[in-house]
Amino acid sequence: FRLQPSFTTFVSHSKKQVEIMGKDKVEIFDTTLRDGEQVPGCKLDTEQKLIIAERLDELGVDVIEAGFPISSPGDFKSVNEIAKLIKNATVCGLTRAVKKDIEVAAEAIKDAKRPRIHTGIGTSESHIKYKFNSTQDKIIERAVDAVAYAKTFVEDVEFYAEDAGRTDNEFLARICEAVVKAGATVLNIPDTTGYCLPEEYGAKMKYLKENVKGIDRAILSCHCHNDLGLATANSIAGVVNGARQIECTINGIGERAGNTSLEEVVMIMRQHPHLNLDTNINSKLLWDTSTMVSQKMGMPVQPNKAIVGSNAFAHSSGIHQDGVIKRRETYEIIDPKDVGVSESSIVLTARSGRAALAYRAKNVGYELTKLQLDTVYQNFLKYADVKKEILDEDIHEIVETSNIGMKS
Ligand code: KIV
Ligand code: ZN
Repeated sequence: FRLQPSFTTFVSHSKKQVEIMGKDKVEIFDTTLRDGEQVPGCKLDTEQKLIIAERLDELGVDVIEAGFPISSPGDFKSVNEIAKLIKNATVCGLTRAVKKDIEVAAEAIKDAKRPRIHTGIGTSESHIKYKFNSTQDKIIERAVDAVAYAKTFVEDVEFYAEDAGRTDNEFLARICEAVVKAGATVLNIPDTTGYCLPEEYGAKMKYLKENVKGIDRAILSCHCHNDLGLATANSIAGVVNGARQIECTINGIGERAGNTSLEEVVMIMRQHPHLNLDTNINSKLLWDTSTMVSQKMGMPVQPNKAIVGSNAFAHSSGIHQDGVIKRRETYEIIDPKDVGVSESSIVLTARSGRAALAYRAKNVGYELTKLQLDTVYQNFLKYADVKKEILDEDIHEIVETSNIGMKS
């Protein structure tokens, strides 16, 4: 299992690049406080946002998208205070391709150590024709103007092509080329509606990498939504095909079915070293960060959620429990300690076997012989058939009522 990464930096093409233990670095752009906070009923106040932002910085994210400053005075204030507070990560504010939005965002992030403006416009036929009643050429003009204007305030300007997932690749390459020429440092390719298949999204990144002139001056970014449950798979397909930033949220929260889940993409890259990709994330903080965001947002994490769900390291069937007790790796691909969980749990239910009962009984102080275990197990099954889960206090009662002469 993996140690936390150490870093080496090298300079090439006059641009700073970072490698992590010989692997290509994938930047983690966290949008929990912007796209994540768009979840109905999940309003956070400035103080809560500051606490989350500080934790994200500690976690090692590269960019914190702190909000959409023109959207409300409260959001402006939150972005502004986060910009003042954060020591390491880039702090980013979202805008539309509208002058006033850009001015307000620039003002909100002006005190950040590393400020970024994230501006953009819809690029699919449905956006151009029906939302803007416009043409492709006019949309390119607006995009270029927005990026050029944002560049008058900050060096680091990210451009998003909203609904890129359903945008024709040739037009997408044209608009990307134009905004890179205007100074965009990051090209965000959002699958806004969560429509793409992984091979399609990966091919889109590859096409842009191969067809956008000047692409070496910018990095490609994955921003995937989860409407078909494919946000994580699509983001991984994106980085495998040349993107070097993933936009994601803690617990995958976000509009509708949510965004790419930060903990999932980070652990996929860690568990598959052959991808030769890694991030700056201190994975040991993932569990606590997930709990903190869930509590502050009042949004529970589904128990079977990968990496951070309460069942992610829990084993309840007899066959699996026996395997895990003998050798953890039999049924676990991640060491729970790597994501901040002290140990896997053996849950006692009516599907559990003797090995699990002996293991849990030992943990609470009963070393049972084989004969004693047989007797206690029969008693255990009676309890387990009427209770969903047998807890430590039940184990005491079960052992002591089994007539084997044992008391704790
Ligand atoms: O999903 C999306 O297209 C977005 C953009 C505003 C970046 O969130
Ligand atoms: Zn989004």
